[in-house]
Amino acid sequence: MQTVFPELTDDVIGRMKGASPRMHEVMSLLIRHAHAFVREAALTQEEWRAGIDFLTRTGQMCSDSRQEFILLSDILGVSMLVDAVAHQSADKGITDSTVLGPFYAGPQRELDQGESILLREEDGEPLIMRGRVADPGGNPVVGAKVEVWQTATNQLYDVQDENQPHGHLRATFRTDEQGHYEFRTILPVSYPIPDDGPAGQLLRALGRHPFRPAHVHFMISAPSHETLVTHLFLKGDKYLDSDAVFGVKPSLVVQPERRHGVSTITYDFGLARKR
Ligand code: BEZ
Ligand code: FE
Repeated sequence: MQTVFPELTDDVIGRMKGASPRMHEVMSLLIRHAHAFVREAALTQEEWRAGIDFLTRTGQMCSDSRQEFILLSDILGVSMLVDAVAHQSADKGITDSTVLGPFYAGPQRELDQGESILLREEDGEPLIMRGRVADPGGNPVVGAKVEVWQTATNQLYDVQDENQPHGHLRATFRTDEQGHYEFRTILPVSYPIPDDGPAGQLLRALGRHPFRPAHVHFMISAPSHETLVTHLFLKGDKYLDSDAVFGVKPSLVVQPERRHGVSTITYDFGLARKR
């Protein structure tokens, strides 16, 4: 098929004379792919206007507490792809990463080993989460910062719900001399990502649901190690195969062990050493 207006693409790229080498590389690719998309889709002027309107509304939806562009990136698989590109040479013994999501709320209260992250009662099933943080050689990472967060049983994070105490179901722990962490919580539940904006409209237009399978978030960091951003998912969740943000990896799906009404998840994390 004949290329429509090929010299336009070369003209746009040819004018980036003041760009740094990386800026030139990235923007040339972006323009080539964007122009190829318009040509291949034979995008109509109405469709182009609808796209501009969609992106405008996406920006207008953003605030300090709502990042609609991250949601858009997540539901289109872009966030997981950027994560995969960053970790493609990960060694054996390093835990798989997944999306950060928009509900990490910055520094959170530090608790002692074994304490509960709940600030009020929930009707969820009690859960103990424990394990070790080590490097790929099996050496404990002592004093690693283990930040965790999850939703309440009403499917909302504290930052989405003014009825929850600030800091409910999120906390920071430090690993001990053996690299151990342990805390008490409740079994997480599946929940819909915020779908009252453009990202939600797009999901509906594509015939997709907004749900994420039940998970607990972890961000684990230590000065000489690469920060690990990940989740643990519950085996058997009905959304494991259709996570709205494509974040599930088989190695992150765990089966709690249930004894006397209390479930326990034992999971060891592997952190890469900083290069
Ligand atoms: C989350 O797991 O908190 C999340 C991730 C991506 C989009 C929305 C929520
Ligand atoms: Fe989440």
